[in-house]
Amino acid sequence: MADQTTKRIAVNTGGGDAPGLNAVIRAVVLAAIQRGWEVYGIEDGYAGLLRGEEGEVVALTRDRVRGITFLGGTILGTTSRGNPFEWPVLSEGEVVDRRDRSDEVVEAFHDRGFDCLVAIGGDGSLRLAQRLAEKGMPVVGVPKTIDNDVAGTDFTFGFHTAVETATEAIDKVHTTAEAHERVMVVEVMGRDAGWIALYSGVAGTADVVLIPEIPFRIEAVCEKIRERQRRGRDFAVVCVAEGARHEGREEAVTKEVPSGEVTQTRLGGIGQVVAEEIAEHTGKETRSLVLGHLQRGGTPSPYDRLIALRFGTAAVRCIAEDHIGCMVGLRDDGITHMPMEEAIQQKKYVSPDGDVVQTARELGIALGDEEV
Ligand code: F6P
Repeated sequence: MADQTTKRIAVNTGGGDAPGLNAVIRAVVLAAIQRGWEVYGIEDGYAGLLRGEEGEVVALTRDRVRGITFLGGTILGTTSRGNPFEWPVLSEGEVVDRRDRSDEVVEAFHDRGFDCLVAIGGDGSLRLAQRLAEKGMPVVGVPKTIDNDVAGTDFTFGFHTAVETATEAIDKVHTTAEAHERVMVVEVMGRDAGWIALYSGVAGTADVVLIPEIPFRIEAVCEKIRERQRRGRDFAVVCVAEGARHEGREEAVTKEVPSGEVTQTRLGGIGQVVAEEIAEHTGKETRSLVLGHLQRGGTPSPYDRLIALRFGTAAVRCIAEDHIGCMVGLRDDGITHMPMEEAIQQKKYVSPDGDVVQTARELGIALGDEEV
């Protein structure tokens, strides 16, 4: 099995974490070791390659990755503020400027004698990896994100675990909604894609599911609640994606979040807006809750672990077979690879004509665009 040449592989994790990152790291390490190669982990995105930054390059041995398949998070650390093309320059804790340090990253990568980087990331991190590849850094991409919005794969790992967490929350909210005869609005993550809301909303038998791909009218949402009341069901559960928007409104609801030295804008708050509007239009008592980062934490589901392990070994196979510049992915339950450039060209959104949306409609779940 061992190749003639010993390769030195680097691996990093970038962007928001997702359950299954550690399983990918372990798979990369074990598959590479089998070929007689060495693997090194770059900590905190690209920080480990930049002089003067916290974060190191660590040797990833069999011992170092023992027992991590089921662990959430990432042993390498990650950051959503680690863009080497716009690295923050700090002065007394404040961001005073941004500098392009991408050449330093590429140089450090070559100085350390690495042959290829396995970049595990979502849409944004894979785009950065692609830009570094254009500067001469050999890269193989592994798609990660709970949002499931990477076009070059049917599923990213982390998504199913997030759906499981959200579905369990919706199940629990049902009983309290019924006990109090309230409308409960559950806001889930997903950025501007509705995958988590749609899958968990249908699996959790929510009465209304609102996703960014289908702008909603509050009247249609309220009509569903009234229709239930007429049938003697005096409570309802609404599952809303953080990126869902009212018909005719361009912008989704956002909030400012403190992020170290700066403040960042994040999607969030639509659940509360919808709850208030339902209360106003129907007179019903409503409550809203935001599941937030709960959806990113915890043990990856067996399905996500399996995809993660398959992606990790496939990334090493890609390097061995010289498919550099590719991203691995899943198509019809088989592993594929395609040029990263192509895989990230566009994002993957829920099709309003897709079968899960159709399933929802035929189950009587309102999507908020019904005629009233
Ligand atoms: O992309 C993953 C994700 O969890 C999104 O669903 C969410 O909008 C965003 O990241 C939250 O980002 P942060 O962790 O920076 O708050």
